[in-house]
Amino acid sequence: MIRRITVRACGLVFLLTAIGVVFSGWTPLPSTGTDSGHEPGDRVESTGPAPTPEYAENGMVVSAKRRASEAGVEMLRKGGNAVDAAVATGFALAVVHPWAGNIGGGGFMVIRMPAGSVTTIDHREEAPSGATQDVYLDDEGNAVRERSRRGYLASGVPGTVAGLLKALDEHGTLDRETVMAPAIRLAREGFPLPHSLAEDLNDAYEDFAAFPPSKKYFTKGDSTKTYRVGEMFVQKDLAQTLIRIRNQGKDGFYEGRTAELLAEQFQENGGLIDEQDLAEYEAVERDPVSTTYRGYEVHSMGPPSSGGVAIAQLLNAAERKPIEKMGFNSSSTVHYLGETMRRVYADRAKWLGDPDHVEVPTEGLIQKDYMRDRMASFNSDRITPSDSVKAGQPMLASESMETSHYSVADSSGMAVSVTTTLNSGYGSKVVIDGGGFFMNNEMNDFVLKPGVPNLYGLSGTKRNLVAPGRRMVSSMSPTIVEDPQGQLFMVIGAPGGSTIITTTFQVIMNVIDHGMDIERAISAGRIHHQWKPRILSYEKNTLPQDVTWNLRARGWPVEMGVFGGIPRWGRAQGLRIKHPADPQGPSVTFHGSSDPRGTGAAVGL
Ligand code: GLY
Repeated sequence: MIRRITVRACGLVFLLTAIGVVFSGWTPLPSTGTDSGHEPGDRVESTGPAPTPEYAENGMVVSAKRRASEAGVEMLRKGGNAVDAAVATGFALAVVHPWAGNIGGGGFMVIRMPAGSVTTIDHREEAPSGATQDVYLDDEGNAVRERSRRGYLASGVPGTVAGLLKALDEHGTLDRETVMAPAIRLAREGFPLPHSLAEDLNDAYEDFAAFPPSKKYFTKGDSTKTYRVGEMFVQKDLAQTLIRIRNQGKDGFYEGRTAELLAEQFQENGGLIDEQDLAEYEAVERDPVSTTYRGYEVHSMGPPSSGGVAIAQLLNAAERKPIEKMGFNSSSTVHYLGETMRRVYADRAKWLGDPDHVEVPTEGLIQKDYMRDRMASFNSDRITPSDSVKAGQPMLASESMETSHYSVADSSGMAVSVTTTLNSGYGSKVVIDGGGFFMNNEMNDFVLKPGVPNLYGLSGTKRNLVAPGRRMVSSMSPTIVEDPQGQLFMVIGAPGGSTIITTTFQVIMNVIDHGMDIERAISAGRIHHQWKPRILSYEKNTLPQDVTWNLRARGWPVEMGVFGGIPRWGRAQGLRIKHPADPQGPSVTFHGSSDPRGTGAAVGL
């Protein structure tokens, strides 16, 4: 049982997943720089045999950048718990991973306490008070997508700082000074630019040049001067911003100098965020969305993220079939999972929204019988005709509008799973002058107009329309899994826009159904279907030719890569906890893996 584990061994599980990949969906994006969909350093075609997972006995941090993982492990070494490590990693990512690590964005955190209770912190961005749907429509009522993608209208009120500090205040053991020290050091003293970041900043020159502060901080002044690998990248103003947060807590970001800088720049440039929006922002503690899968307990993020609901639905459907016997990525498995994904994403589009503003039928959607009924039209020989795959009708009656909940504890056995984002790589591409940090373009995750898909090709209904104070629907799926004995088993999540959900789902299945170790489960090739477009996508080297042939024979439009051959798959960051069969034997061990498609690192203690 997890209770047997010592504070050092067990309060140390942490996973932080940074999201930042950009998809165009099937609607073309401008083909400039960072909207290419690739995270710096992506090795997108790496699906070969996986090396052995990182191994440790006293805890582990897995994140998108080694320096950020090391910042977390530094907290563990000081005796901090998983939340301390998560917060240190989160702030460090804001320095070393400007693509997606952030203080100008938002995210979701799932925390498992040592005794097994699970809670979540929603620190999703919020629409500013001046945000209405009209802001994103032209005079004819057509959606002007660029307004929600780039520049000052694209940003929601950032939530990351509030979320990280709420977690630290309520569940951490170390003080702000300690947990923020690595981030401040990395910003003030700089760090040698890795090849991936140097190249990516150079590639993004045109994006940054459009905004003078972005040009000032993240270019060398003109396109002929480029960053070189190994040169020190110092971010003095970002260091000062972090110091204000360290000294004043939440007020050091949402009030005072940083808030003034942010609000003034937004107001001067036609943006919506003002000082009051910042002052009023709060991270919200919510119940997790939980389901069982073959005896395992799976806890993930509830609305306004669609991630937890969708993962529960996918698992509930998968549980109805002997996936292990059907075989990893066999044509019958892919056929069944593809049909499941179509139905789940149709539900996502119809039913998901901000639970503080619209009724979301979470309980109805995650009931086991609901997916049984949804899969009743499944035909093992043939795809269900597209026109008949629509959202289902979950039970609404007993659904509560009030989902806020607090469960506070502080001891060993803790696990934290965080997904954080600016939305696109470098978000809106706007940096706050004097603050040194990128702002998000999360307003694009709202439905600008029913029928108009977002960057990831995801559509929605009026439940997810822009409205003041509303949080936009997300796919982020930070997840924690417990084994049938109630012991901590796995911490997993991924970036990747609309593929976040299917990535997280497939990694869980790879471990539980196919018995893969965490490294293999993460590196294994994936499939994806999101209802619209009507394409079953697969990753290179994932489906043998006879499987794609069999799928086509069943009526599937099958395509390699997501959306027209572009390989944009989430880079999962996960760890698996192994418990000794013999209670007197060696203690718990941690096995971690940072997706070989990216450049992150699992660092153990
Ligand atoms: N911005 C991507 C998501 O939240 O799903």
